[in-house]
Amino acid sequence: MMIPQHYRRLKRGPQVILPKDIGIIVAYTGVDKNSVCVDFGTGSGWLAVSLAKICRQVTSYDIREDFLKIAERNREIEGLDNLILKKADVTKKIDEKDADIVTIDMPNADKSLKNAYKALRENGYVVGYLPHMEQVKKFVSTLDKNRFRYLETLEIIARDMLVRKEGVRPSTKGVWHTAYLVFAQK
Ligand SMILES: C[S@@+](CC[C@H](N)C(=O)[O-])C[C@H]1O[C@@H](n2cnc3c(N)ncnc32)[C@H](O)[C@@H]1O
Repeated sequence: MMIPQHYRRLKRGPQVILPKDIGIIVAYTGVDKNSVCVDFGTGSGWLAVSLAKICRQVTSYDIREDFLKIAERNREIEGLDNLILKKADVTKKIDEKDADIVTIDMPNADKSLKNAYKALRENGYVVGYLPHMEQVKKFVSTLDKNRFRYLETLEIIARDMLVRKEGVRPSTKGVWHTAYLVFAQK
């Protein structure tokens, strides 16, 4: 899977969310120029930067100063003044209210759902990005306990195609599994 040029200029520290999954998050939640987003687990900031290019404001949280520095560099590269980076543990207290969407990409994502609920407006979306099925099961059962309306879980598979004189077929190389995407609404 080719990483588009505008992503290749961004720095990478911890594992990033790739364009194939970012595209679905944007399309399914319908975020636009009026949307306010909260992102749990900044990491390298690839998702946060992508959302900030579309939305009115994005606040992204991470517990690690070193990762926030990478994201800050990416914020500068993209020249985004609507991306706010904060250092805090999102399982503790956070300040945001009335957000349109909360995205969660971190270990123990289920532990942050209580705060995700508090940060969202009515009908706002929460999106969990979870590499393992076991995490999906835990996340979905915790959604229920936190009064979220579960919508669906998706895995987005992008297949690279070899287009050559001798024939066209799927490549045997490429990125297969990244993570499952869980969508729910307040
Ligand atoms: C895989 S990275 C996120 C990558 C990011 N979504 C991107 O697209 O670049 C996960 C991040 O979650 C952060 N994290 C883990 N537990 C956290 C917590 N309780 N509160 C805030 N951030 C946390 C980690 O420090 C790490 O940077």
